[in-house]
Formats: sequence, C-alpha cells, structure tokens
Amino acid sequence: MSKIDNTQDAGILPSVLLIDDSPEILEQMKWGLKHRYTIFEADNREAAVGILQREKMALITLDLGLPPDADGVSEGLSALKQFIEVNPLVKVVVITGNQDRANALKAIQFGAYDFMEKPVDLEVFKTVLRRAEYLSGLEKENQTLLEREGKRGFPDIIGTSAVMAKVFDTIRRVAVSDISVLIVGASGTGKELVARAIHQQSHRKDGPFVAINCGAIPEMLLESELFGHEKGAFTGAHIQRPGRIELAEGGTLFLDEIGEIPPALQVKLLRVLQERTIERVGGRVEIPVDIRVLAATNSDLQMAMKEGRFREDLYYRLNTVTISVPPLRDRGTDIVMLAKVLLQRFTEEAKKKISGFSREALLALEQYHWPGNVRELENRIRRAVTLTDNLRIAPEDLDLEEPKDVQAGPTLKEARDVVEKRIIEQTLNKTGGNITKAATILSVSRPTLHDLISRHAIKK
Ligand SMILES: Nc1ncnc2c1ncn2[C@@H]1O[C@H](COP(=O)(O)OP(=O)(O)OP(=O)(O)O)[C@@H](O)[C@H]1O
Ligand SMILES: [Mg+2]
Repeated sequence: MSKIDNTQDAGILPSVLLIDDSPEILEQMKWGLKHRYTIFEADNREAAVGILQREKMALITLDLGLPPDADGVSEGLSALKQFIEVNPLVKVVVITGNQDRANALKAIQFGAYDFMEKPVDLEVFKTVLRRAEYLSGLEKENQTLLEREGKRGFPDIIGTSAVMAKVFDTIRRVAVSDISVLIVGASGTGKELVARAIHQQSHRKDGPFVAINCGAIPEMLLESELFGHEKGAFTGAHIQRPGRIELAEGGTLFLDEIGEIPPALQVKLLRVLQERTIERVGGRVEIPVDIRVLAATNSDLQMAMKEGRFREDLYYRLNTVTISVPPLRDRGTDIVMLAKVLLQRFTEEAKKKISGFSREALLALEQYHWPGNVRELENRIRRAVTLTDNLRIAPEDLDLEEPKDVQAGPTLKEARDVVEKRIIEQTLNKTGGNITKAATILSVSRPTLHDLISRHAIKK
C-alpha cells in the first residue's frame, strides 16, 4: 500500500509502518499519528516486508491477527519474525485481541518491543511509540559509534576530537617502525592504551607486549625484574629467571612511569637501548635482545633532568618521538561519547535497565574538569550504574562536585586578579610547568605569561 502525505517537513519526521487488516483501525491510527510521523501502511505481511526492505523504518505497529489467520496469531507471529530478520533494530509494537496476554508474551519472546491490547488507547499508544522511537535512536547512535570505531583501526581507544585525531595519526606513523616512543600524559588519560595500540599496529603484534611499572616496584627488585637473574645471584635467587626485557623478545617492552626509574638502572637501561644486549643480574654473558621500547610518564622529565634525577642521554634515546595524550577535559564531545559507550558497557555487565543520561547529567559531564581523566569517568559511571535506581543517569548519580568558587575580591580588579591567578596555576599544573604549552593554552605570549607569573607570585 502507499505512503500518505502529511506536513511539508515529512522528510524529518520518523517513519512508522502500521500493519492492520482493518481499514477503519488503520484510518484511526493514521489520524492520531500523522502529525508526528511519516506513515506507511500495509494490510498483509508481503506488502509490509516490501516496504521494510525499501524504507528506513524505526517503528512498526503490527496487528497479530493478520489474514489468512485473522482469528489466530500464527501469521502475525511469523510476520514479526521476518520483520526482525529484515531489520534487527526495528521496534515492533504488537496489537493483540482483548485479554490475550499469552500471545502478547510470545510476541515479546519473538523480539517485539512492546504490546497493546485492543481497543487501543491512542494516548497510551503514542507514549509507547515515543519510547520505542527514543530507544531506536539510541541504538542507531551506538551503532554509528561502533562502526566508526571499527573503521578507524583503534577499537579500544574512543575519541573523535581533533586532539585525539592527532594522537591516532602519530600512532599510525610510529607503529610501523621500531623507534622508541615516549608517551606523556596525566594520570588516567590512556597512556597504556596508546602503548598497546602502537604494539598492535606494529609488525611485532604477534610477539609479546610486556609492561612493567617502574614506579610500583622497589629499587632492589626492579633490576632483577627487568634484567632477570642467574641462580645464586643474591640471597633468595634459587633459580635462574629471565627478566621482563628478555620476556619481551620479538615484541614490545612498555616501561610505565619511567620517571621513577633510579639512576643506577638508568645507566643499565641506556646500555640495553644502545647495544641491544642485556646481562642478567649475577650473569657474565651478554644476551642479545630484539625488542621495541615504549615508555610512559605523567611527570615532567625535563624538570627531572634539570634537577639531575633523569639522565639526558636516556631521555633522548627513549624520546625519538613524543605522544602527548591530552587531558579528558580538552577532548570536547569525546567526553559524552565515552560516557555513553561506558554506560552501555557497564549497564550490560550489571544486567540493569538504564536507557541513558538525563539532559542535566550530560551537561554536568561536559562541565566537570575531570582531574582523574578517563579512569575517573569510568569509575564514576560504573558506580552510578551500580547504585542508581533511575532509568536515566541523573547528575546526583555521578556526584560531580566542583570545588567551591574562589572568594573573589570586592572590586572588579581584585576579582579579576584572583581568577587570573587561579587559571594560570591550573594551566601550569596541567602542563607540568611547561611555560610554552601553558602560554598556548591561555592564548598569551610567553613573555606575557612570564610577567603574569611574577606579578601573581606563582610558584613554578
Ligand atoms: N580513549 C579511551 N577510550 C576508552 N577507554 C579509555 C580511553 N582512555 C583511557 N581509557 C580507559 O581508562 C583507563 C585508564 O587508561 P590507562 O591505564 O591507559 O591510563 P594511563 O594514562 O596509563 O593511567 P595512569 O597514569 O594512571 O597509569 C583504562 O581502563 C582504559 O581502558
Ligand atoms: Mg598507566
């Protein structure tokens, strides 16, 4: 059957396909819905399938009593099955005879979105359709996201902001070679994810990815963790053990928190990078190694070098290329996109019914400053999903308390000074004291920033 004309902006109205063998009922439904929907109609399965194959359809209403089984449900149920095969995301609301719960539930099992009993109350019907439409919109949005992720080649790193696009670009360019990469970024920004992505895109992807957190292991143990030891090398070394460097043979070694590595080990590490050989603790033979080294830090290595805590020669060896992973608050629309993907993941894990975020919650997510970056976002959403009874995540569920506003002075000049000082301090914190970067972010020249720093007596 045909599509009926409604308003001139029919193109942007969502489409609904009404299926019923009674012309009167079809007429009634059309009348009730024509202002909100572009309406298609059919009085049998074949016609309906034809429309479904041609048109982008989000919603269907289906009278289960279709001919040739107008008094039963067999034709209606088979039609339902076929619709979902043709378009798995379409939301079907089935309409059953009065008191026909059993068949309604059967339809739900077959994949119907909801059911209504005759006679249909038009107001309730509209609400049901609106909910179905909302859900369908969410699913479509999600599917687009997932497709985009898949195409880009970084399935685990979510983000389409310009700053992240730059990160992806660099990953692609460095992945193919064996050069060392230093990954710099605040805590929780995804440095390890970036390291893994480089490994996965490299020719070493079938080799091991071995990570070691240099900050988490006591100095005494770190050397033997990295280099391994021979039997009897020290008290407690009952057996010979290969270190992480050897274990990364043919693959990638990821040195996390490289800024924490003690000076004595910095020398040894430098030798590995230059000579491509190691000696186990207590060993005398040199063992050749074929590894690629990636390192990460959330501290300012430049400062550490100035203060003599980090060797310059090692720094330049590790830092052939730097990838700066931006803080979450600088990623614009990525925040909401990440939030939605994480919400879906945690909702599924918790087997809960949560359909999304309230408008206020989305706003709060965008405005929060995210000191703990993606890790914090993950934690907050996981907790919200666990604790909430809401159908949509509300701001209270996320608990995004901003620190109280600074006490501004009574005059405009004083108030301006307080805010100016605070913003400069925050930016310097963010850049780890890097004046050039801070000046770029604040859109002032370096000399101006230097002036402001001394005027406000800001400690670097
Ligand atoms: N862009 C992203 N998309 C999806 N998940 C992300 C993204 N960035 C980070 N994550 C997730 O956030 C968490 C923190 O990431 P990761 O461990 O890589 O950060 P990090 O920078 O190494 O943090 P830290 O400095 O605390 O070690 C992980 O669970 C990671 O999967
Ligand atoms: Mg990490």
